[in-house]
Amino acid sequence: MSDTIIVTGGAGFIGSNFILQWLAHESARVVNLDNLTYAGNPANLASISAHPRYEFVRGDINDRGLVADLFRRVQPRAIVHFAAESHVDRSILGPEEFVRTNIHGTFSMLEEAKAYCNALPAAEKPHFRFLHVSTDEVYGSLGVDDPAFCETTPYAPNSPYAASKAASDHLVRAYFHTYGLPTLTTNCSNNYGPFQFPEKLIPLMIHNALHGKALPVYGDGKNVRDWLYVGDHCSAIRCVLHNGRPGETYNIGGRSERCNIDVVNAICSVLDELRPGSPHTPHAGLITYVTDRPGHDRRYAIDSSRIHRELGWQPQVTFEAGIRDTIAWYLDHQDWVAGVTSGSYRDWIETQYAKRGGGA
Ligand code: NAD
Ligand code: TYD
Repeated sequence: MSDTIIVTGGAGFIGSNFILQWLAHESARVVNLDNLTYAGNPANLASISAHPRYEFVRGDINDRGLVADLFRRVQPRAIVHFAAESHVDRSILGPEEFVRTNIHGTFSMLEEAKAYCNALPAAEKPHFRFLHVSTDEVYGSLGVDDPAFCETTPYAPNSPYAASKAASDHLVRAYFHTYGLPTLTTNCSNNYGPFQFPEKLIPLMIHNALHGKALPVYGDGKNVRDWLYVGDHCSAIRCVLHNGRPGETYNIGGRSERCNIDVVNAICSVLDELRPGSPHTPHAGLITYVTDRPGHDRRYAIDSSRIHRELGWQPQVTFEAGIRDTIAWYLDHQDWVAGVTSGSYRDWIETQYAKRGGGA
């Protein structure tokens, strides 16, 4: 094996943050395999595009021949598998792509990783790692007083997105138990931070507020998510890759449960402060309650005590500091936002919000 890792989906939100962090803190090379869907953006990695330890390969994780050739050529010591369709609302309108990428794509990566790993010299095989990046949404929805999700919480996915990720987690588990592939799985709560596509709650609200558009809060706004700054997620993945036990799963969370309306109000307050002269101040005046998401999970919360106890990881960034930095990043990177909010983005917003009554 060479001192190289392959990252799938590295042009997306978390993957690009991961690659930037990896090159700043680690010595191994990174090959980024991404087919650049609407969510994949090479501009996220413009600052390292000529880095001597970085290579971009455009390709689909379902393309078995391409993946096999890549493994043969690169001889990776690890795969960090981010590539996925990741947005719940899109999975409600069009679930098929979620089955294709999240389930079949993960199956393809596992099959090729198994073939590659089996061909390694016996002494090297135990050192290979397949790290699968997953979500807390596989566990379903919590009541207000329920204990947070832990690694033994039964799976109960409710959206097509969550179901497709749950299926992929089960495949990863099976490849460890049946074939001895040295896998690791991480289940993380909602991330936020730079380079997040403005279809997800936090960047959508920042973008709309800046342009004086309605801030569409689903239902009563009391749904709870456990927010984690993306840099903390990336450091947790590196920690699991280095020290996690093959076959194990690790829950990763921010210990930052917030209901949606509080998140939106926090964004509005920071914007009021950073943009006092804006004609849209106070930004909270733009909040509009709209028709709820079908099957909307009420509450997610992560018990991350295992990764803390066994591997010594814990989040470093508080929600208050992280949201402020994130808003400042979006204000400073309006050219990036303009680049991703043209064309098909407008079609999505039109389809998604037209019938909800929010005017977003
Ligand atoms: P994203 O949608 O921003 O990026 C996904 C990336 O995968 C894009 O670059 C896209 O081009 C690429 N991709 C999609 N289909 C592909 C295919 N068939 N072949 C190759 N590349 C493909 O997603 P994200 O928010 O960065 O999430 C990354 C991973 O983390 C996903 O697996 C997601 O389930 C998981 N996760 C996300 C969150 C979150 O809050 N965003 C939380 C927990 C877990
Ligand atoms: P989202 O960012 O889509 O992440 P997920 O569904 O994976 O948790 O949504 C976060 C929460 O915000 C979720 O409860 C749905 C809600 N939400 C809104 O209220 N309005 C919106 O326009 C969006 C996109 C999300």
